Amino acid sequence: MLHYKISSILALFLASRSSHAAPSHHSNSTIEWGPCDPSVVSEPSLSCGFLEVPLDYQDPSVGNARLALAKANATGERRGSVFFNPGGPGDSGVAELGIPGFKDVLLAVTGGVYDIITWDPRGVGTLTTPGEIFCFDSLEEYLTFFNGTIELTGIEETGNFTDPADVSALFAQAPVVQKKYEELGQKCLNAPTGKYLKYIGTSAAVRDMVSIANAIDGPDAPINYYGISYGSLIGSWFVNMFPERVGRVMLDGIVNPVTFATEKPSEHFSHQFASSDNVYKGLLTGCALAGPSGCPAASEGDGPLDIDAKVQELIKAAHDATLVNASVPLTSGQFRVEFFAEMYATADWGRYMKENFTQIVETIKGEAPGANVSLTKRSDRFVRRNRLLGRTTSNDSPSYSIHAISCGDAIDLQGVTMEEQFKGIINNTRNISHLFGTYWPAPDYLCAYWPVRAVERYQGPFNKKLANKIIVASNVYDPITPLPSAEEVARQLGDSAVLVKQNGFGHSTLAEPSTCMRSLFSGYMANGTLPTNNTLCEVDALEIFPGVTTADILAHLPSTDV
Ligand SMILES: *[C@@H]1O[C@H](CO)[C@@H](O)[C@H](O)[C@H]1NC(C)=O
Ligand SMILES: *[C@@H]1O[C@H](CO)[C@@H](O)[C@H](O)[C@H]1NC(C)=O
Ligand SMILES: *[C@@H]1O[C@H](CO)[C@@H](O)[C@H](O)[C@H]1NC(C)=O
Ligand SMILES: *[C@@H]1O[C@H](CO)[C@@H](O)[C@H](O)[C@H]1NC(C)=O
Ligand SMILES: *[C@@H]1O[C@H](CO)[C@@H](O)[C@H](O)[C@H]1NC(C)=O
Ligand SMILES: *[C@@H]1O[C@H](CO)[C@@H](O)[C@H](O)[C@H]1NC(C)=O
Ligand SMILES: *[C@@H]1O[C@H](CO)[C@@H](O)[C@H](O)[C@H]1NC(C)=O
Ligand SMILES: *[C@@H]1O[C@H](CO)[C@@H](O)[C@H](O)[C@H]1NC(C)=O
Ligand SMILES: *[C@@H]1O[C@H](CO)[C@@H](O)[C@H](O)[C@H]1NC(C)=O
Ligand SMILES: *[C@@H]1O[C@H](CO)[C@@H](O)[C@H](O)[C@H]1NC(C)=O
Ligand SMILES: *[C@@H]1O[C@H](CO)[C@@H](O)[C@H](O)[C@H]1NC(C)=O
Repeated sequence: MLHYKISSILALFLASRSSHAAPSHHSNSTIEWGPCDPSVVSEPSLSCGFLEVPLDYQDPSVGNARLALAKANATGERRGSVFFNPGGPGDSGVAELGIPGFKDVLLAVTGGVYDIITWDPRGVGTLTTPGEIFCFDSLEEYLTFFNGTIELTGIEETGNFTDPADVSALFAQAPVVQKKYEELGQKCLNAPTGKYLKYIGTSAAVRDMVSIANAIDGPDAPINYYGISYGSLIGSWFVNMFPERVGRVMLDGIVNPVTFATEKPSEHFSHQFASSDNVYKGLLTGCALAGPSGCPAASEGDGPLDIDAKVQELIKAAHDATLVNASVPLTSGQFRVEFFAEMYATADWGRYMKENFTQIVETIKGEAPGANVSLTKRSDRFVRRNRLLGRTTSNDSPSYSIHAISCGDAIDLQGVTMEEQFKGIINNTRNISHLFGTYWPAPDYLCAYWPVRAVERYQGPFNKKLANKIIVASNVYDPITPLPSAEEVARQLGDSAVLVKQNGFGHSTLAEPSTCMRSLFSGYMANGTLPTNNTLCEVDALEIFPGVTTADILAHLPSTDV
């Protein structure tokens, strides 16, 4: 999946809240809670522990997995637990709960009456066994393996793949990249973590969560859950695999479980990118309203389309420079990937456009033949994942945990060629997201060559009658988990789900503060208060650009038909 994670927006909602620990009551704990491993978690108020679970729930003879858990105590009188998964897939729940201030946000959102329990799923982090998935021994080996391919440089194109030369250049890579991916699949299988690949995936994660809940609250207790982004997929699978165990469940930033269970990556990306360009239009609009003093990309009097033209020129400049020298510091493909990440984090737009974007413009200007701006190699954005969140590991090569989870779960894609996937990318670029359709690499495209599928994959139905009504939340403009996915989950669940929307931009409702949404969440979690179906929450009057709020942007947004 395309990093459906929230760590890129975590810094934005670190509201502080005083916390008073109340005694927590464990009915049948087989988990020894103690201090957390300081190499992963520096927050001293968390407790950590481990739970052993079967690697294969259908075949105990295979042996056990050992899950790393973390807990933040309820602030009020404890009424149970709420389980939390931060997304990714592949993000470490333990490390993210340990980010200073984040537990306070989660406690506030969930009403303060539950202990927040999270865990590192199989294939994630350094504490759970099996842990982080690696296919290379070192970064050097990875860079050599993919040298000269789009894996390292991204895809070059301008306009809407309008230049036939760009189309032929991409198709020329198809057999090369397919062969690399086939080899990579075998490398992953032969690596030390290869024997675990078939035990990694979302069904196992759901059963693990139920095992943890059984250990903490007993085998009959309702299970409360809060899942964001890919965490919403764990949630969709959980409520449909264990409908009778559903307690209070909130899903936010929704991955469509139906398309995920039935479609090829190039097709499900056509749904996931549905709002990406609208989020980009939101950024352009805010920039235009702020003007040159608040957003240097704007000239005096510029409207959103004028700024778009400058972004397109910038892409063209990087594209042309890359054709001359493939080793430029920033290719147009890399720029798209980096810029897409910013679409998640609305509250960061003003700072980004002032600082990072201005620097990107300088970097790309310096790439032009004859320019004498000094060129500095920007950090390699394709390989930085496993350095996130203080994860310590002796292997500096990129992690393949996202691939292991997404591909373990994926439909069977035997026989899908790279050429076919590239056709889908061109189609998505022309028809769905003009700016981000060429996002590359994305883990899903490896799935056709991934060597195994998980021993259990839940493929539906997704319309079970649940023991309790759940909340399904979405931003109106989300770049990667668009509103139609939330509508589909709510439609499938019918009477069992209430849909709530937040009138703003970014990935999940956490991307922008909304007192309305937060109190709706905490009222549901603490008191079981169900909001009116299809409630639309406004966001708080935070300035996204100097003097410009989301309400200002919404009032001036150009037509959002794509
Ligand atoms: C959390 O609650 C447990 C159980 O009451 C208690 O033993 C532990 O000390 C608490 N942790 C913190 C950091 O307050
Ligand atoms: C990649 O290939 C180029 C040209 O063939 C070579 O100069 C360079 O050293 C290679 N880089 C790596 C990391 O293998
Ligand atoms: C891509 O196509 C759309 C729809 O035809 C058009 O509005 C847009 O300007 C095009 N973008 C570029 C950069 O050519
Ligand atoms: C506690 O756990 C044990 C071992 O899993 C189980 O046999 C027992 O029934 C559980 N007791 C309760 C009260 O849940
Ligand atoms: C290509 O760009 C790289 C990085 O900026 C630079 O080191 C190298 O000298 C350039 N190669 C040519 C042939 O200009
Ligand atoms: C923006 O620039 C700062 C400072 O150069 C850097 O630390 C940060 O990672 C950049 N942010 C993004 C989203 O690239
Ligand atoms: C190149 O750099 C020199 C020295 O810093 C400067 O005088 C000159 O104007 C620059 N040329 C261009 C085309 O930017
Ligand atoms: C192109 O995209 C459209 C709309 O997203 C879809 O209906 C069509 O099947 C796609 N065609 C191909 C060849 O993928
Ligand atoms: C765009 O979608 C239309 C129909 O939805 C389809 O006919 C067309 O082939 C697609 N464009 C590309 C480039 O595939
Ligand atoms: C809420 O509305 C959505 C349509 O927006 C619908 O699919 C869903 O079934 C409704 N839920 C309830 C509880 O009525
Ligand atoms: C739950 O209901 C009580 C009583 O009406 C109220 O005081 C409290 O603020 C509510 N809690 C939340 C989190 O909404």
